[in-house]
Amino acid sequence: MEQANLPGYRRVLLLGRHGLLGSDLWSEFDRRKWSITGPKRGEFDPLIEADRLRLARRSLGEFDWVVNAAAYTDVDGAESHVTEAMAGNAILPGALAASCAQTGWKFLHVCSDYVYDGAKGSPYTESDPMAPLSIYGKSKMMGAQNVLGTLPEAVVIRTSWLYGVHGRSFPRTLVEAFEAGKALKVVSDQSGCPTSTRDLARVIADVIAMGPAGGTYHACGPETRTWHGLATETLTHWCSLAGKDPPNVEACTTHDWPTAAKRPASTVLSTAKLEALGIAPMRSLAESLAEFARSLRDEKTPEG
Ligand SMILES: NC(=O)c1ccc[n+]([C@@H]2O[C@H](COP(=O)([O-])OP(=O)(O)OC[C@H]3O[C@@H](n4cnc5c(N)ncnc54)[C@H](OP(=O)(O)O)[C@@H]3O)[C@@H](O)[C@H]2O)c1
Repeated sequence: MEQANLPGYRRVLLLGRHGLLGSDLWSEFDRRKWSITGPKRGEFDPLIEADRLRLARRSLGEFDWVVNAAAYTDVDGAESHVTEAMAGNAILPGALAASCAQTGWKFLHVCSDYVYDGAKGSPYTESDPMAPLSIYGKSKMMGAQNVLGTLPEAVVIRTSWLYGVHGRSFPRTLVEAFEAGKALKVVSDQSGCPTSTRDLARVIADVIAMGPAGGTYHACGPETRTWHGLATETLTHWCSLAGKDPPNVEACTTHDWPTAAKRPASTVLSTAKLEALGIAPMRSLAESLAEFARSLRDEKTPEG
């Protein structure tokens, strides 16, 4: 049977394929034997009209889904690079949604828990109002609004606290700081749901395979941690592989650790809406973190 005739076969245009999440999305789509087109930033830019025209004329190909994992993700940098953050996170997704409205392709966009102010005191549901504290959060909120305002059939996946082996993330930075012998101090008064990009890629592929009604869906790991809790657990997994004693990680408060961008205190997300679709929840944090630690070790231990 030809690949294109396989049940569930999809043709996907993936933006941000070299990023933390984009790399695992590529692997997941590839594992499912889907056709993937993943132009680099210089090869295709949805902010340039000529490139949007190429998309509309189907010069890049014919697709079932366009998936946007591209974003300006420097949360602190966004405070002083407002134009870049707004272009990448607010305007770009809206432009892609408009192209999809023209071509009839389905669109999936990735959003962030930092659209919430973190003061709710219980898990956020998709209908809770957005009230971002930072430029990054505001740009991501505007992106989601632009997407659904332009193309209500689009799917917005809102996720949180990503980690994976193919890019920069808090667990990687922490392991590298530990290996460099640095003293470790981490905030213990911000909480969220750490999410493995490998697990999120599986969920996103399941969503694409299913093609649910348009709207926002929360998708994140099943457990809540503070940054300090995540740090301690990451190093426990890392040290058990390396045969070392886990270090002491000093806890501090947000007040003790000033950053350019204000961060929400708690952005635990309810994933009930996604689960009601029949999509399996992600693995436990212990399972995903153990896999992350093994992959990081394999990367840092060249064969031979
Ligand atoms: N990281 C987290 O903890 C987190 C948490 C919640 C939500 N999210 C969301 O999850 C999504 C994926 O995040 P990530 O951590 O995987 O991001 P990432 O590692 O920073 O990757 C983003 C990718 O987007 C590309 N990109 C940026 N601006 C672009 C533009 N104007 N045109 C084309 N490509 C562009 C980057 O390309 P270059 O390599 O060329 O810069 C990079 O490959 C984003 O929507 C983010 O907001 C992330």
